[in-house]
Amino acid sequence: MRTALSEPTDPHASSLAETVRARTRARPGREVAGLGAVKDDGRAFDPTGAFRNAIGTSVSVQRAVLLGCKVARHTATTVLIQGDTGTGKELFARGVHYAGPHEGEPFVAINCAAIPENLLESELFGHEKGSFTGADQQKRGLLEFAGRGTVFLDEISELPPGTQSKLLRVLEERRVRRVGGLAEYEVRCRIIAATNRDLSTAVARGDFREDLYYRLNVFRIELPPLRERGNDVEMLAWHFLESLCRERGMSPREFSAGALSALRAYSWPGNVRELKNTIERAIILAEGDVIESDQIIIQQRSVAPALTAGDSIHAAAAIVVPPEGLTLDDAERQLIAATLKLARHNHSLAAKMLGLSRPTILRKIRKYGLGRVPDE
Ligand SMILES: Nc1ncnc2c1ncn2[C@@H]1O[C@H](COP(=O)(O)OP(=O)(O)OP(=O)(O)O)[C@@H](O)[C@H]1O
Ligand SMILES: [Mg+2]
Repeated sequence: MRTALSEPTDPHASSLAETVRARTRARPGREVAGLGAVKDDGRAFDPTGAFRNAIGTSVSVQRAVLLGCKVARHTATTVLIQGDTGTGKELFARGVHYAGPHEGEPFVAINCAAIPENLLESELFGHEKGSFTGADQQKRGLLEFAGRGTVFLDEISELPPGTQSKLLRVLEERRVRRVGGLAEYEVRCRIIAATNRDLSTAVARGDFREDLYYRLNVFRIELPPLRERGNDVEMLAWHFLESLCRERGMSPREFSAGALSALRAYSWPGNVRELKNTIERAIILAEGDVIESDQIIIQQRSVAPALTAGDSIHAAAAIVVPPEGLTLDDAERQLIAATLKLARHNHSLAAKMLGLSRPTILRKIRKYGLGRVPDE
């Protein structure tokens, strides 16, 4: 018997499955190359039950569930989950944990981009009393606290270089020292890392250690964007409509044909999370039991004013290569300055244009003194 994911156990799972099957194009079970028979109840074949909150029967989701089930019992194997924002990386990481033999032990998640470097090391590895100002008592790190459970390292591409080498040592030797400590302790937990960036590009740019990349990339699960999952969009929409209405004690709702076409036509750059939020909004806006197309309100993501062709010429001219050449740092500084100008100093937009995460661009703006940035 497996424990459910962190989300509450769904007592209506079978009736939900029936509804999803009835409402999505009914197809008999079919064969997908290398994966065996595929059910048509809105869920991938999952002998463990740990992925029951993962809706979708597209081949890519089937494959991700299958890989998750297979790697679950190999707890010494590090898993890398790659996918854009909102594609379900944490949901699948929890699935791997709960499908494994140590599902009763902790699952702890930490976002590597959200915590400053010195605190991150203390969070992960722990610290000894007096090892830095404010360390007034010894603290266990998450790698120790998790026992034989799972530590989920989210946004792994943002791990600072010093912490990257320490993590590599943890993965290779399964031992670690607390910050300021001498004694080593054994690391028994499984590590699952997630990223929405292509780590091989980060390696090529020198932002991520190649040896750590290979160590993390032993078993990779890829979660494709929602727009590439075909009929899953509809299944997920019905799933969220059912579950959100039930959670709120509301009577069941339906989508009109127009609402379903609107859902199918959109490209969902924010993936499953964006779809879920859209359905939640539609439920609030709907007057009766039927959700109409004008209640499917797609939020525009970019908050910056539209850029013009004139802007781009101006920015390109901002990068100057003198006859004696230019250091990479100087070029990076100029490129970031020009992009900030183009993005009208919208840090999130500039980060997106440069293919960086927001914390990384903030660090670089600070490094090159290119303006005021919010504190980390
Ligand atoms: N296949 C799925 N079936 C049902 N719900 C899903 C599925 N995938 C994602 N979700 C839901 O969508 C939301 C976003 O998922 P999750 O937090 O796992 O994404 P993520 O990839 O970690 O996002 P981010 O990169 O922004 O951290 C959650 O509420 C999750 O439960
Ligand atoms: Mg996440």
